[in-house]
Amino acid sequence: ERGNYRHFMQKEIHEQPLVVAQTLQSYLKPLAGEVALPIPDFDFSGVKRVQIVACGTSYYAGMVASYWLEQFARIPVEIDFASEFRYREPVLEDGGLALFISQSGETADTLAALRHARAEGQKIAAVVNVPTSSMAREADLLLPTHAGTEIGVASTKAFTCQLAVLAALAANLARVRGKLSAEAEREIVSHLAEAPAAMNAALNHDEAVQAIAPLVAKARDVLYLGRGPDFAMALEGALKLKEISYIHAEGYAAGEMKHGPIALIDEHVPVIVLAPSGPYFEKTVSNMQEVMARGGKVILISDAAGVAAAGDGCLATLELPVVHPLIAPLVYAIPIQLLAYHVAVLKGTDVDQPRNLAKSVTVE
Ligand code: F6R
Repeated sequence: ERGNYRHFMQKEIHEQPLVVAQTLQSYLKPLAGEVALPIPDFDFSGVKRVQIVACGTSYYAGMVASYWLEQFARIPVEIDFASEFRYREPVLEDGGLALFISQSGETADTLAALRHARAEGQKIAAVVNVPTSSMAREADLLLPTHAGTEIGVASTKAFTCQLAVLAALAANLARVRGKLSAEAEREIVSHLAEAPAAMNAALNHDEAVQAIAPLVAKARDVLYLGRGPDFAMALEGALKLKEISYIHAEGYAAGEMKHGPIALIDEHVPVIVLAPSGPYFEKTVSNMQEVMARGGKVILISDAAGVAAAGDGCLATLELPVVHPLIAPLVYAIPIQLLAYHVAVLKGTDVDQPRNLAKSVTVE
């Protein structure tokens, strides 16, 4: 059932426009210009903060969502790794919303955190891909992703479907809290509805990514930089690369470079910069130039305007479609997944079953 694809991961990367569209279908009412949750009358009243809990790639989806929730719904958000959450004795006020994100719905730390949050009087929302899982059963507000079965151990399509659901949740919460005009909601809905086509356009750059892969495959260490939601995407890019190619990679907030990691820069460390046009572009590019001034070899992932403005002197550039900043994480996920994939193929690692990893981590 891999069809013409060499690996499940590759197939799942290419399925994303379809499954994200499928997922969005149950969260958007495009004609009305509204978002809609599966439980339309879920009671968010009294929710004064959101606590996000997840592991791995699902955590990075939560991190992207934390920007959206604060920006749109103006609600304070905290986010924890599930394995840290319970043990720090978090202060959870009555009636808070605890949001769990999990492809499998069975990750032991996340499930234990969910039960802890329930015991502490939180309302429980869960973004889950496996509908029969424990987390799906135990949530008050189940927000399913419709990615279909994900077989590759490295999460790809489940991640972008999580982002789609989380964007809809942020817009919904914003409306309920009176922070979103009908006009602004209509705009969010139309941008989200454009995501599958933009992701498809990004997939058309597969060969360009493949051409960049050898530059990364020979490296021992790789850095990923971004700001705002693209900081979370930088962390996700680094995770994808290390888990399937076994190359050491780190994601960093671009502005933090000069506080230490810039000391690592030399011509042997490729630096992958995620910089879509938008509010963070100029600051990210100035951090990128600091890297280049120290001999760093930059691979810039941006759009036509971004590459025209900042591509000079880069080792390589990748030009994605111009997209609204809201959907940029869904679109920029594609090249970082493809890059990890092609690097792993060059290195000859077991792409679908990386060493030491399991698809579902059921021990704490
Ligand atoms: C990375 C990856 C893992 C999972 C993590 C959480 O590609 O697959 O980091 O994201 O183990 O798993 P779920 O989402 O099933 O809770």
